[in-house]
Amino acid sequence: MMQNKVKPNGTATLTIGGKTAQLPVFSGTHGPDVIDVATLYKQTGTFTLDPGFTSTASCESQITFIDGDAGILLHRGYPIEQLAEKSSFLEVCYLLLYGELPTEAQLSTFTHNITRHTMLHGQFDRFFEGYRRDAHPMAIMVGTVGALSAFYHDSLDINDPRQREISSHRLIAKMPTIAGRAFKYSVGQPFVTPRNEFDYATNFLRMCFAVPAEDYVTNPVLARAMDVFFMLHADHEQNASTSTVRLAGSSGANPFACIASGIACLWGPSHGGANEAALKMLQEIGTVDNIPDFVSRVKQKDSNVRLMGFGHRVYKNYDPRAKVMQKLCHQVLAEVGQTDDPMLKVAIELEKIALNDPYFVDRKLYPNVDFYSGITLRAMGFPTSMFTVLFALARTVGWIAQWEEMIEDPTQRIGRPRQIYTGAAQRDYVPMPARR
Ligand code: CMC
Repeated sequence: MMQNKVKPNGTATLTIGGKTAQLPVFSGTHGPDVIDVATLYKQTGTFTLDPGFTSTASCESQITFIDGDAGILLHRGYPIEQLAEKSSFLEVCYLLLYGELPTEAQLSTFTHNITRHTMLHGQFDRFFEGYRRDAHPMAIMVGTVGALSAFYHDSLDINDPRQREISSHRLIAKMPTIAGRAFKYSVGQPFVTPRNEFDYATNFLRMCFAVPAEDYVTNPVLARAMDVFFMLHADHEQNASTSTVRLAGSSGANPFACIASGIACLWGPSHGGANEAALKMLQEIGTVDNIPDFVSRVKQKDSNVRLMGFGHRVYKNYDPRAKVMQKLCHQVLAEVGQTDDPMLKVAIELEKIALNDPYFVDRKLYPNVDFYSGITLRAMGFPTSMFTVLFALARTVGWIAQWEEMIEDPTQRIGRPRQIYTGAAQRDYVPMPARR
């Protein structure tokens, strides 16, 4: 059922098996109208079926809006391009969490709170040592973020708004510290403690790349690129990992457990793992000469080869984040002196070919945010195994904002999809000797 923030503006009538259901139709601020089918079962005794949720809204939300046909992404109404150009990640965090851009004083207090929550409990570091040295950093993230709930008992009551807020701040603040440790552990270097004088992105880069043998020198271009990367990945409405967080949270699970479930879902190559897969693909293609052969394999139905970093469930146009990421990629490569990177050449040529090939044009397959993010992150010094970790770090605020919105929704109930059962009909237990 919808919250009472929108009024029905029509009715859809559905007749099935001699029964007729009157279903309210709602209009949001932007986007298609929705038919509220919550009473369909009561009225007709039937369910709806929509695997993959291609036509189903799972909730009412006021945080993020995507117009996939027009290639528009808005956070609380603000276009992502404007935020990426003019804002900062922590300001976007505030916007997502509280609904409005902060005043100077609000941003200052928020930044102070996040900065003062970056440290981890001393005992927490022992977790990392339990992992094999070659563990994927996402495996470390799934486990350690869930383990935060064992350390912060004072902020686990989801019915207390102040405890929820403290958990939110803790998660946004501690994610870079955990991600930095996951990276350091994988390369066998000592952990770097966060320092309060640095901004969020700089602090994170320092926790990844500083070593005890020499002072860490901040590169403002790379720090800004990191911050923009975080902004581009901060939220993306009801995607798979966000829906996972909402579903986990609908049972009343604590926020640390819910965010760990989001990280687990994000890990898959169709979602957050795509930037890692896109870079591997560019590496495998190797040179521009190999592109035609690769593209023809992608187009073969039974090849199971996809052009990674292309296509999106919602965007049937250029992903607006991809445009910003493409620009960022050029800036970063220029800064680190890698404008001749062969992978960049392959990416540019591949994009050009795909955007003019009827296979991709007819299916409305355009570059998504992951197409250029892998090359960018690699140029910044991150190994591919860290790419999805960086996505998870940035997306944490979106997950929390959506989780918080769900908890505050007075109509919220445990999420419990239905199914169409096509298994064996009811039958009697067969004793072992009678089985064949
Ligand atoms: N390369 C080649 N063909 C593709 C691709 C691709 N990347 N994506 C979709 N198609 C084809 C697909 O074969 C199908 O063709 P046909 O109609 O002939 O069967 C048609 O396009 C529709 O594909 P779909 O699988 O039904 O589309 P979907 O909405 O279920 O999938 C997607 C969306 C993102 C999983 C898919 O486009 C894909 O696998 N892309 C590559 C992985 C990727 O880059 N993922 C990152 C998404 S953005 C980051 C994030 O939000 O997590």
